Amino acid sequence: MAESFDVPLVEEEKFYLPDPSYKQQAWTKDYQKAYEEFLADPDGFWETQAKQLEWFKPWTKVREWNYPYAKWFVGAKLNITYNCLDRHVANHRRNKVAMIWRGEEEGEERILTYQKLFHEVCRFANGLKKLGVAKGDRVCIYMPLVPEQVIAMLACARIGAVHSVVFGGFGVNALNMRIKDAEAKVVITADVAIRRGKTIPLKTIVEEAVVNAPSVEKVVVLSREKENPVELHREMEVDFYDLMKGVSTRCEPEVMDAEDPLFILYTSGSTGTPKGIVHTTAGYMVGTYYTTLNVFDLKDTDVYWCTADTGWITGHSYVVYGPLCAGGTVVLGEVTPDYPDPGSFWKIIEELGITIFYTAPTAIRMFMKVGEEWPNKYDLSSLRILGSVGEPLNPEAFEWFYKAIGKSRCPIVDTWWQTETGMQMITTMVGEPMRPGFAGKSIPGVVADVVDKSGKPVEPGTGGFLVIRNPWPSMLRTVYKNDERYQKYWDTIPGCYTAGDLAVKGKHGYIMVIGRADDLIIVAGHNIGTAEVESALVSHQAVAEAAVIGKPDPMKGNTIKAFVILRVGFSPSDKLKADLTYHVRMTLGPIAMPSEIEFMDKLPKTRSGKIMRRVLKAKEMGIDPGDISTLEE
Ligand code: WTA
Repeated sequence: MAESFDVPLVEEEKFYLPDPSYKQQAWTKDYQKAYEEFLADPDGFWETQAKQLEWFKPWTKVREWNYPYAKWFVGAKLNITYNCLDRHVANHRRNKVAMIWRGEEEGEERILTYQKLFHEVCRFANGLKKLGVAKGDRVCIYMPLVPEQVIAMLACARIGAVHSVVFGGFGVNALNMRIKDAEAKVVITADVAIRRGKTIPLKTIVEEAVVNAPSVEKVVVLSREKENPVELHREMEVDFYDLMKGVSTRCEPEVMDAEDPLFILYTSGSTGTPKGIVHTTAGYMVGTYYTTLNVFDLKDTDVYWCTADTGWITGHSYVVYGPLCAGGTVVLGEVTPDYPDPGSFWKIIEELGITIFYTAPTAIRMFMKVGEEWPNKYDLSSLRILGSVGEPLNPEAFEWFYKAIGKSRCPIVDTWWQTETGMQMITTMVGEPMRPGFAGKSIPGVVADVVDKSGKPVEPGTGGFLVIRNPWPSMLRTVYKNDERYQKYWDTIPGCYTAGDLAVKGKHGYIMVIGRADDLIIVAGHNIGTAEVESALVSHQAVAEAAVIGKPDPMKGNTIKAFVILRVGFSPSDKLKADLTYHVRMTLGPIAMPSEIEFMDKLPKTRSGKIMRRVLKAKEMGIDPGDISTLEE
């Protein structure tokens, strides 16, 4: 972790106060009171949330805490899909729209009611059973953002299989590593993903990625290209809809223990191997349900759009499980913010009458750059609440989002959380005064703090490490097959969970998140490990050694810069730079591509041989590298 860092200057104490009507009608009407109620009786607080959902068997104990291992809703039996589907189908939501999907082409739209989604999930679950998938088996889902991706996730959960969704922008090696680590029995994919009018051949990537992955027995393929259908290798591959033929629209939900795993989701770590974050059933369900209702203030009449891909935690928690548990109408878009033009998002908001819009700062900054004329072409008056996630929402972007999109009317919830936390942890709850640049405070149910290395809270206005002091229901339970790594989250700073972020606590208790304290780079809201990119570079025949840093970027937050030492016999050239970039693209995927490569003769290292990325970064940015006493001669 970093030793010290600069605290950004916040020159004024500016607050925005939403109209009082927001507070009056919100699920959490009084943040302070709700927070005090939680502190007075944390278990009682979470029990109240859990009781709003349906259980096959109630818990005997809300929480069991054996530092650093937590169990929540001990002894309870449930199935999360029962709460996402059956519960709604049995009441007034049966014919409510559960999901609206939009594609890039004009007129491309699919609508699924809760009843329809329920049937599709049951049929696909029965299909998976035909393939021999059973409770506890791991299933890898590598798909574009289409309804079938959500159906596949829910079908796994229905039968108790553990899904591991891999973002469709990852390349062969990244996918292969994830399939192997999880020992997935089945991989579900599609022939293609569609992005900016182009098709991306997902199945071809899967074909390569399952080589040397002996656990994989079957690959299920969704065929989207009707004119040129892909050929299936029948010994291994089955068609998505063929699997659903002739099966029942009923599939009894598997009875899951509260602590049975629900999914694994890989996130970048400080080593070259990604960490399989493990989430379990009951706590994750309660945490995402509660935050969806209270942070977004979701009502039955809302039309809610979270622009994240389901391949990330944001998609898991706030496209799929949270909003569906809460019976919401969820919009899903296989769309890009600037294709075919920078009005694409605003057009969808107008046409679907979206009321809650949750997106990422990197998109907001892109919109800001192209100007207000684009949103001004559309009627955005349906919007009620705006949300942001993934990286710091800088004050300029906040102001723009607030004024140009929210028309100085809509509260913005800037939500800080992580793959590991499963649910939103820090925000400014709807109706509370908002402070640009500051995400906000711990939501009721969470105790976040900013501390020094010993765990002591820092003075207001000072920087420190962001930690969580109490266990929370949707916290990760472990890192798949790596308990030691899990423990590290809890023993880096004594007595608390270390998030790995640097933060500042402002005077009024508002928390500003600054960025990562470790070797992760957040590029356009996506977590990339320096080590992952470095090992991809080193796997190229021309590269002897590589070091990667994040370079601040006004649009993407950060970009990747790589410093490379070549092997003897290779010499620097633009052609080689292009080759190396392409190589990273093919191994890790487009999201991990360096935007700059510099050839070096030497890299700064400690005497023990560790590359000092901090020194490279300081040099790059023209700032003081800090303590370099460990630097080798
Ligand atoms: C960063 C995404 C500032 C942070 C949900 C965190 C944020 C990492 C915010 C987790 C925010 C997320 N303000 N930074 N509102 N939200 N981050 O696991 O560095 O993909 O540790 O989860 O994103 O990224 P992950």
